[in-house]
Amino acid sequence: MRLRYIHGQYEFLQNHEKAITEPEKRGYKLNDAFNNNNPIHVELGCGKGKFLRETALKNPDINYFGFEKSVKVAYRCAKSVFENDPDNYFVVYSNGDILKEVFEPKSIDRIYLNFSDPWPKPSHYKRRLTHKSFLEVYKIVLVDDGEIHMKTDNNDLFEYSLSQFEEDNWELLMVTRDLHNSPYKQDNVMTEYEERFVQEGKKINKLIARQKYE
Ligand SMILES: C[S@@+](CC[C@H](N)C(=O)[O-])C[C@H]1O[C@@H](n2cnc3c(N)ncnc32)[C@H](O)[C@@H]1O
Repeated sequence: MRLRYIHGQYEFLQNHEKAITEPEKRGYKLNDAFNNNNPIHVELGCGKGKFLRETALKNPDINYFGFEKSVKVAYRCAKSVFENDPDNYFVVYSNGDILKEVFEPKSIDRIYLNFSDPWPKPSHYKRRLTHKSFLEVYKIVLVDDGEIHMKTDNNDLFEYSLSQFEEDNWELLMVTRDLHNSPYKQDNVMTEYEERFVQEGKKINKLIARQKYE
C-alpha cells in the first residue's frame, strides 16, 4: 500500500517527544540524547517501528535509534500506538547515511539492517546499505567488537552482502539462509516485512558480521 503524504507530517515529527528530525543540525551528537551511558543500537530503515519498539522493550538497558528516511513512514512510526511503549528509543527522521556526522566515533554497539531496500539494478548497488562505502562508515561509528545484524528475504542482496563483508575484512559470526527453520529463530523479533514474507512462505536470510582485527 502506498502511503499518502498528509500535510503537517514533518511538523508532527518535529514536535513529537520520541522523534528526532535533522539530527545533523542539532549541535550535539545523538549519543547525548539519553541521560545515560548505555550501549547504543541503531536500526537503519526502521519502517513503522515494530522491531525497534519490541526490541527496546525486551532490552531496557540499551538505547535504540531507528532511522527512517521517508517522512510518511517515520510519521506512521511515531504516530502508532504501542502497548507498554518503552522509554529507550527514538525514531530519527533522517537518511542513515549520516551516521558519522551524528554519532561519536566508535560509539555504536550494533547496527540492524532489516529488510533493507534491495536496489536490484547494478547501477544502484551503491545505494545498498551493505555497499562497501556504507561498510566503511559503519567501521568508523561501531565500537571495536561492534556488530551488524542483517535480515533479508532477498537472496541476491544477501549473497552480495556476504561478499561485501568478506572483501572488506569482516568476520561472519553467523549465517543462515532459513532463519525460521534454524535455532536462531528462538530469540528473533519479527519486523513488519518479515511477518508478511513468512506468511507468504518465503525463507529469511540472516547474518551477523563483526570487524576483523589482526
Ligand atoms: C523494505 S522497508 C523495511 C522496513 C522494516 N525494517 C521492516 O523490516 O519491516 C525499508 C525501509 O527502509 C527505509 N530506508 C531505506 N534506505 C534508508 C536509509 N538510507 N536511511 C534510512 N531509512 C532508509 C525505507 O524508507 C523503508 O521504510
